[in-house]
Amino acid sequence: MIKKKFYIENYGCQMNISDNEIVSSILDNKGFIKTENLKEANIILINTCSIREKSEKKILLRINQIKFIIKKNNILIGILGCMASKFKKIKEHLVVGPDSYREIPNLINNFFKKKGEYISTSFSKTETYADIIPKREEKKITAFVTIIRGCDNMCTFCVVPFTRGREKSRDPYSIIKECKFLFKKGYKEIILLGQNVDSYLWYGGGLKKNLKRKEIKNEEIINFSKLLELVAISVPLMRIRFWTSNPNDMSDNVLNVIKKYINICKHIHLPVQSGSNRILSLMNRKHTYVDYIFLIKKIKNIIPNCSLSCDIITGFCNENQNNHNETLHLMNYVKYNFSYMFLYSHRIGTYAYKKLIDNVSLSTKKRRLTEIINLQKTHSYYRKIKSIDSIQDILIEGISTKNINFFYGRNSGNDIVIFPKKNSKIGYFIKVKITNCTSATLVGNILL
Ligand code: 5AD
Ligand code: SF4
Repeated sequence: MIKKKFYIENYGCQMNISDNEIVSSILDNKGFIKTENLKEANIILINTCSIREKSEKKILLRINQIKFIIKKNNILIGILGCMASKFKKIKEHLVVGPDSYREIPNLINNFFKKKGEYISTSFSKTETYADIIPKREEKKITAFVTIIRGCDNMCTFCVVPFTRGREKSRDPYSIIKECKFLFKKGYKEIILLGQNVDSYLWYGGGLKKNLKRKEIKNEEIINFSKLLELVAISVPLMRIRFWTSNPNDMSDNVLNVIKKYINICKHIHLPVQSGSNRILSLMNRKHTYVDYIFLIKKIKNIIPNCSLSCDIITGFCNENQNNHNETLHLMNYVKYNFSYMFLYSHRIGTYAYKKLIDNVSLSTKKRRLTEIINLQKTHSYYRKIKSIDSIQDILIEGISTKNINFFYGRNSGNDIVIFPKKNSKIGYFIKVKITNCTSATLVGNILL
């Protein structure tokens, strides 16, 4: 029998990249062959994101574009991930939610035999794909390792709790096993992923018999600080990053672990969303302006050179000019190294959609966003200029797109650094002296 070929495309966050690798592994194990060529695929899978209206529109356009390019019959288009529930009623597609990836091979067979269901969008309380080794790209520098799926936080603007379900922490033994496997494979960096890594929590159970005693001391409960420490100890020659932290759940223990291990990067992505207490409360964020600033001070106290980044939403329901100014004020206080900044979009199904009015005009949202972006640029530049003349540890990730004689890599704080190649190689850890910068990039020279 001729093996079917699948093509998989990704939209959205790093969690989706990680999910694509899980899906590729599931299909690979069942004898499907991955292709990078859309036109030769029998199965086209699109991993979707519905967090903002813009991303959703982009995906809908892409689906139509694919239908236009692929005029052949008997091609399966599959919608995976967050937008799956939206497609539940469209019978021509395979539709699979984030907790049902294991069912994809059967659903594909149903589709081609034109029998049974090819839709599965229900949530599971336990599915973490712990036993699946994701099929990753060959680049072998950075690997994403998902440690917790879903989110329980119920921020009023956010669809994630509805599209990805409740929080589920993955078995720590499987996480450490995967990290060690990645090290043996030659990967240099691990990014531990979750919508809210700080609420990672695993209760004993079968844990003791799986982990060696020297790897785990205070058995029974593993929280994020313990997991981070276990990972740092298990792969001491790899760089460890984690993404995303939550201001309400971040503990002092996590900060102390980051400080203690040189292989844990000194960078925290800590979304604030708004600098206004009034808006934070409407957003059902569990922190106030003062709580957040208090945490920032604590971070800088424990890890003085820690790089900070965040997510900010502009133009949330009822946001007035004063509230917007409070966000600018908070940014001026923290001076983030970088930020992801978004226009608020009213998402169906969220609490805000049901109970609040999307009453900030698009032109005001855009003006406020421009102000926020411009302010962030000055802060990024301020942070970068401060690192001129410093010597930084860089992991080389690839060849610069602007100049083939230059490599690019990242420092511990997650800044991109470019430098002439000299005698180094992709995947090396090297020291670079920073000589120049823009608001987006550091420039330097390798110290040999
Ligand atoms: N509108 C705009 N931005 C949003 N985000 C989540 N939901 C929305 C929304 N409805 C942003 C938040 C979150 C990031 C992943 O996406 O800033 O931290
Ligand atoms: Fe969404 Fe809030 Fe959970 Fe982040 S913490 S995924 S914004 S509900």
